[in-house]
Amino acid sequence: MASGQLSRSEALACLGCKHACHMMLYSATKSQLFGRIPIRHIVLMQMRFDGLLGFPGGFVNLQKETLETGLSRELWEELGVAIPISVEDHVVSCLAPALFSSTSSSCLITHLYVKRMEEEQILEVERAAASTAKDHGHEVLGMIRVPLYTIKGEGGLASFLSHSFIGNARSQLVESLLRFKLVTPDELKIPGSK
Ligand code: APR
Ligand code: MG
Ligand code: MG
Repeated sequence: MASGQLSRSEALACLGCKHACHMMLYSATKSQLFGRIPIRHIVLMQMRFDGLLGFPGGFVNLQKETLETGLSRELWEELGVAIPISVEDHVVSCLAPALFSSTSSSCLITHLYVKRMEEEQILEVERAAASTAKDHGHEVLGMIRVPLYTIKGEGGLASFLSHSFIGNARSQLVESLLRFKLVTPDELKIPGSK
């Protein structure tokens, strides 16, 4: 397991830590950009209130809810859709670097869940998030799709990854794209980066 990563049970044993759960929702798609570049998968992220990119989700209070019911509540607030979540959707937990928990006396553990949906379900999430979701226009400025293709050198995925992300959302994204084979390692070799 990579450094800082914890299993779900190890993470739950960290008494006194704050916990935040987020989810990557995605679907396959046959649609094409400009009618010729395969989009392959729709992967949802969001523009947050703080101007950073992140996944939908948030803080979970383990004294009142489980990781999964807390995540489901957060998704309802931020997306306006009831999404069933099970322990099997959990992918990785991570002890956040001190930088991200320095404002609090307790440490922060982030949990990432990933769920594959049908394209029509993803479209429904986008519609609800932009209309009925309680947090729309407040904590969530808008849902966005991650471009997985590369055009004109660094356009597409590389440009997307050059934006600013909350916490370890960027590495959660990159690792999940590889883990679920949504991109190949070669497609992540970004010109000019180490
Ligand atoms: N990776 C690592 N850390 C993350 C990630 C991520 N992908 N996403 C968020 N975090 C951390 C951030 O430090 C964030 O503040 O988890 C914390 C909780 O996640 P949010 O989605 O921001 O929490 P949420 O419960 O939805 O609401 C944000 O926190 O800053 C306050 O007042 C603000 O009401 C707001 C609330
Ligand atoms: Mg929230
Ligand atoms: Mg949130």
